[in-house]
Amino acid sequence: MIYQRLNDFPKDFLWGASTSAYQVEGAWDEDGKSPSIVDMLDHPPGTADFKVASDHYHRFREDVKLFAELGLKAYRFSIAWTRVLPNGTGEVNAAGLNFYRQLIDELLSHGIEPVVTLYHFDLPYVLEQQGGWSNRATIDAFVDYAGVLFDAFGDRVKYWLTINEQNTMILHPGAIGTPKGGVLPSKRVLYQQSHHMLVAQARVMALCHQRCPAGKIGPAINTTSMYQETCHPLDAIAAHNWETLRCWSFLDVAVHGRYNPLAWHYLLDRELAPQMEPGDAALLLQGKPDYVAINYYSTATIAASRGDASDISARAGDQQIMLGESGVYRAAENPFVGKTRYGWVIDPVGLRLTLRKTAERYHLPILITENGIGAPDELQADGTINDDYRIEFMRQHVEQMQLAINDGVELIGYCPWAAIDVVSTHQGYAKRYGFVYVNRGEQDLKDLRRIKKRSFDWYQRLIASDGRQR
Ligand code: BG6
Repeated sequence: MIYQRLNDFPKDFLWGASTSAYQVEGAWDEDGKSPSIVDMLDHPPGTADFKVASDHYHRFREDVKLFAELGLKAYRFSIAWTRVLPNGTGEVNAAGLNFYRQLIDELLSHGIEPVVTLYHFDLPYVLEQQGGWSNRATIDAFVDYAGVLFDAFGDRVKYWLTINEQNTMILHPGAIGTPKGGVLPSKRVLYQQSHHMLVAQARVMALCHQRCPAGKIGPAINTTSMYQETCHPLDAIAAHNWETLRCWSFLDVAVHGRYNPLAWHYLLDRELAPQMEPGDAALLLQGKPDYVAINYYSTATIAASRGDASDISARAGDQQIMLGESGVYRAAENPFVGKTRYGWVIDPVGLRLTLRKTAERYHLPILITENGIGAPDELQADGTINDDYRIEFMRQHVEQMQLAINDGVELIGYCPWAAIDVVSTHQGYAKRYGFVYVNRGEQDLKDLRRIKKRSFDWYQRLIASDGRQR
């Protein structure tokens, strides 16, 4: 659709930025915090772990001041379950809760709307030792934990997110890192865990509505459109298979409270269908999100499965993320898109398409909670960081967002990844995403000084002009 006139971004649009607790905070064992599963991961030799990260725990006031200078209207961050409930459930750690109270108050004092993710990959290790998400007791633990946060912050936090990228945890668990011993759960186990997360999510959404009358809550799934490699009908079926299994199957349960039929039949056929307790179907229906959050980085191109082992390949040479499944789909190349230094597809138009599909499917407002480009940004001798590639990446995505709004999508905000440099999930500190550079190396912590990148000035201008000055 080429429009004759373009509408501007809405006046109350949430221009924001994102981080997650374990990737930014550091202070991994301070003030009563217990270890989470990510603290216990194996790190490839030479890469950063999460112990100090960006030291935000000790420097949050300085960071929030920078976010205010950037002009952020919203800051999306996660709360570390392990700070608030070091035993996973039960006794509340006042110091942990207090850290987030101070952070939220600091944001509000600068007019920045807090957007809080309850759980971003960092399950308490103590719960993992009791079976983690395979254990139904983790559902109750998550609901208790969410209740503590709703009671503590429900009067000042309006936007809540349940679980970050459940689909990544279930479909590509290696993307979060490698557990000691290197063994990842089987698909059967993962789909059972996924079911427990879906039930927990539905209960938490219902609880939010009960305890925080002004609160809004939604799921945050890594969502993207799939292209078919050719117009061969079997390529079209394969692309639809993978788009459904990877994205819609998770969002359909979150929004409609029932499993997607194609996904469910796939699970039955592969003997992967989770065991459901009586009452689960009713619980799933209780979850009524107010909005859908999407993390969008790239699209994928898909071909029909050849039905053999050649269907499986590593994404961009990264063995932690294997694509393809015999009988379902295989990954293909798209000659019409660019790629980042880490091999991720760059596809701004794909964002417009993904927004259209999400809006059409769920009829809910959409918040983009992640989008960005990982790059080995370099601090120059003159103290600058020239990340023009990031500016170009975001400029093009913002342009497509405006088109999507003109398409009728109710887009309420944009929180790119990341507000400040953070440790990547499994590719260390050299892979940076922030508007603010943190002066540290993989292991050499240097002085952790904050330095504004060129993209900081660009985003500041963009926000100040309500998205016009691109
Ligand atoms: C998202 C995650 O999938 O992608 C973030 O929610 C993550 O936690 C981001 O950091 C970028 O991925 P990576 O692997 O480059 O850190």
